[in-house]
Amino acid sequence: MKLHEKSNQNDLQVSFQLKNFIMNNPVMLASGVVGVHPDILPRVAEAGAGAMVTKSISMNPREGYRNPTVVEVESGYVNAIGLSNPGVNAFSKELATLKEKPIPIVVSLFGSTPTEFSDMISRLESSSVDCYELNLSCPHVEKVGLEVGQDPEAVSSIVKIAKKFSSRPVLIKVSSNITDIVEIVSAAKDSGADGVTAINTVRAMVIDIETGRPILSNNVGGLSGPAVKAIAIRCVYEISQKVDIPIIGCGGITHWSDAIEFFLAGASCVQVGSAVAYKGLDVLGEIVDGIKKYMNNHEIKEIGELVGRSHSYQ
Ligand SMILES: Cc1cc2nc3c(=O)[nH]c(=O)nc-3n(C[C@H](O)[C@H](O)[C@H](O)COP(=O)(O)O)c2cc1C
Repeated sequence: MKLHEKSNQNDLQVSFQLKNFIMNNPVMLASGVVGVHPDILPRVAEAGAGAMVTKSISMNPREGYRNPTVVEVESGYVNAIGLSNPGVNAFSKELATLKEKPIPIVVSLFGSTPTEFSDMISRLESSSVDCYELNLSCPHVEKVGLEVGQDPEAVSSIVKIAKKFSSRPVLIKVSSNITDIVEIVSAAKDSGADGVTAINTVRAMVIDIETGRPILSNNVGGLSGPAVKAIAIRCVYEISQKVDIPIIGCGGITHWSDAIEFFLAGASCVQVGSAVAYKGLDVLGEIVDGIKKYMNNHEIKEIGELVGRSHSYQ
C-alpha cells in the first residue's frame, strides 16, 4: 500500500493511493450530503474533489423518515433522514448509466447482517465502483449503523465477508458514539479493512421551545458541521496513535486549515460533507487549493510529511 505516492514535476504531492484506488488530491465529498444519484459525479469532479462517496445504499429500498429531517443549529446541522435510498438494484442500474467517471467513486453501504453486505457487493462488483465504505455508524436508524458498529464481533464478521466478496478496497466508517473507537478499528483492521473513515454524525437532538416538541420527526438525529470537528480530530488522533491503518478524516471540515488539522492528527485524506450544503460544491476545490498553498508556504513537498505530526508532542 502506498500513500501519497510521488508524482512528476515540481508539483506538490497531494495524491492518495489505497491499493488500486487512486485520488489526485486528498479531498473527497462525504456520503449523503448531495443526495443519492451518482450522476452528480462530473460536477463534483469539476468542483475539484479527488473522489466522491455516494449516499449510503441498502439491500432494499428505504423511504426514510418524514419531514422535518434536517435542522440547522449553531455551527452545524442535526439530521435524521433515515438512510432513504432506492436499494442496491436500482442504484447499480443508475451507476451503469454514468457516462463519464472523471474521479473515483466510493459506494457507501449499510445493512444489518454480513450477508446483506456480501449480497450488495456481489451485485455491485460488475459496475464501475472504485472502493466500498461500510457505514457502520449511522446514529439514528435502528438495527443498522451504530447498532452493529459498536460490536467488535459484528464489525469483524461484516468486514471479513465484505473483503471476501470485494475486489476493491474496503473502508469502514466509524462513529464517535462508542466507548472504545480503537477497539472497533482494530477489529476491522485485523479482519482485513483497508482504511477507516472517522467520523459519522454525532447523536444529537433539538427541541422547539414554543411547542415543547423535538423538531426532527425521529426526535434524535446526528450532528454534523464545525460543531463536531474537535470530536473528530480526537477520534482520528486516537486511532492513529494505536492502529496502523490509513485514516480518512471527516467532521466539520469547512476550510483548508481544518483539513491540515486532520492531517496533523493522523488522517491521510479528508471528506467534506456539511460545508458543501452551506457553501456549495466549490468549497471542495477551495480546500484543495488552500492545502497546496499551505504546503508551499511551509516548504512541505508531500502530505505524508504532515500526517500524524502532532503525535511528536506527547
Ligand atoms: C444530510 C446528511 C446526510 C448524511 N447521510 C449520510 C449517509 O447516507 N451515509 C453516511 O455514511 N454518512 C452520512 N452523513 C454523514 C456525513 O457523511 C459525515 O460523516 C458527517 O456529516 C460529518 O461530516 P461534516 O461535518 O463534514 O458534514 C450525512 C450527513 C448529513 C449532514
